Amino acid sequence: MNVVILAAGMGKRMQSALPKVLHPLAGKPLLRHVIDTASSLSPSKLCVIYGHGGAAVPEMVGKLAEQTGTRIDTALQQPQLGTGHAVMQAVPELDESVPTLVLYGDVPLTTSASLGRLVEAAGTDKLAILTVEQANPFGLGRIVRENGSIVRIVEEKDASEAERAIREINSGIMCIPTAHLKRWLAALSNNNAQGEYYLTDIVAQAVADGVPVVSAQPSAEWEVAGVNSKVQLAELERRHQLNIANALLEKGVTLMDPARIDVRGELVCGRDVVIDVGCVFEGRVELADGVTVGPHCVLVNAKIGAGAQIKPFCHIEDAVVGDKSQIGPYARLRPGTELGEDVHVGNFVEIKNSQVAAHSKANHLAYVGDATVGSRVNIGAGTITCNYDGANKFRTVIEDDAFIGSDSQLVAPVTVGKGATLGAGTTLTKDAPAGKLTISRPKQMTIEGWSRPVKTKK
Ligand code: UD1
Ligand code: CA
Repeated sequence: MNVVILAAGMGKRMQSALPKVLHPLAGKPLLRHVIDTASSLSPSKLCVIYGHGGAAVPEMVGKLAEQTGTRIDTALQQPQLGTGHAVMQAVPELDESVPTLVLYGDVPLTTSASLGRLVEAAGTDKLAILTVEQANPFGLGRIVRENGSIVRIVEEKDASEAERAIREINSGIMCIPTAHLKRWLAALSNNNAQGEYYLTDIVAQAVADGVPVVSAQPSAEWEVAGVNSKVQLAELERRHQLNIANALLEKGVTLMDPARIDVRGELVCGRDVVIDVGCVFEGRVELADGVTVGPHCVLVNAKIGAGAQIKPFCHIEDAVVGDKSQIGPYARLRPGTELGEDVHVGNFVEIKNSQVAAHSKANHLAYVGDATVGSRVNIGAGTITCNYDGANKFRTVIEDDAFIGSDSQLVAPVTVGKGATLGAGTTLTKDAPAGKLTISRPKQMTIEGWSRPVKTKK
């Protein structure tokens, strides 16, 4: 099968410099949703028609093709003279021995199941149209039937009053025998209300040529909904998020409110996972059995071990959290953080590019960066690894069972030995030996006979 994706329209109503098809839905460009769905049907040819937005669209497509190792052609449509004219730009790419499926780059949520039914209805010799009955068909092409058979499509602007009363609309998605398509495109005229080459006019040609025209229906109206404005984009975003939330619920995940979760990527959950309101998941996030995520957390490319608790307002990115760990509230785990089992990271603690082994704790107000922390280590409040000298970064090593007193600075590169204790307020610039108390602090003294200054009267 050939797939042609129409994506040349300008999307004026988006009120944006970004080409319409590059606006993200669930964190992914609209066009990418369509390409991903098309790819799931294993087409032999995939061609994207672009126009507005300059090089941005072919650049995105090029990168995607490279990432996925698939071939995706692009063809420029300039100027944009209608949907028929758009498909004409792909003609040199189309293999005549297989049908051609036409998709729209701004219709992101069509399922591969619905497309599969359309392709099956078309077979090798029929024209199949994805149609839907709509309560409000205004603005869309209407499916005109005679004795139940489709005879043509008429656009809103060209329709008679009787035709405008038809509620079965053209989604625009069609599957067409390719050799016929090429002939029909060549015969299109722009003699209509909009002066455009309508792809929809091929339907009447098919009927005239005795090629059967059939229809298939999507399982829901939103599958064929297009994005022309930010309002419609927002509506489809909510629809999509609700679909994801329902799928999670079906799998047994507890969502405190399915209307208040955003998944912009892939969220994989084990059994008995509980997710509170207002959480955002980006990239690939894995939550193992029994994980709870408190309200208003952001998790990006993260792996959370079984039984771990993520308390409210945490930000976790490119990080691994071990089983039974407790994170937050208000913790930040930055890229390269790997926490072992039963690690406690409390409020206002930031960890970056560090390994923290089992049962260690940093419960309050700390910065742990570029550090290797052993097991059962206690990092006191206000501890900071000074990992950066303004030019280079250095590592801090804290061995098993060490105790770091509050408000200490560990000036890297530096090592705190096994079982060592640092007194509160220590600025550690040399290694602290294992098993001993190290402290860097001026001796405390009390000045006898000192009195506070008093304000002099003028
Ligand atoms: C088209 C259909 C209409 C259908 C509707 C569904 C035609 C003539 N009409 O309407 O029957 O109900 O879609 O939304 O086909 N595009 C290009 N190049 C162009 C024109 C459009 O690439 O020259 C692309 C757009 O970017 C968009 C898609 O084709 O992805 C549909 O264009 P749009 O203008 O939204 O649809 P209509 O022509 O109004
Ligand atoms: Ca449209």
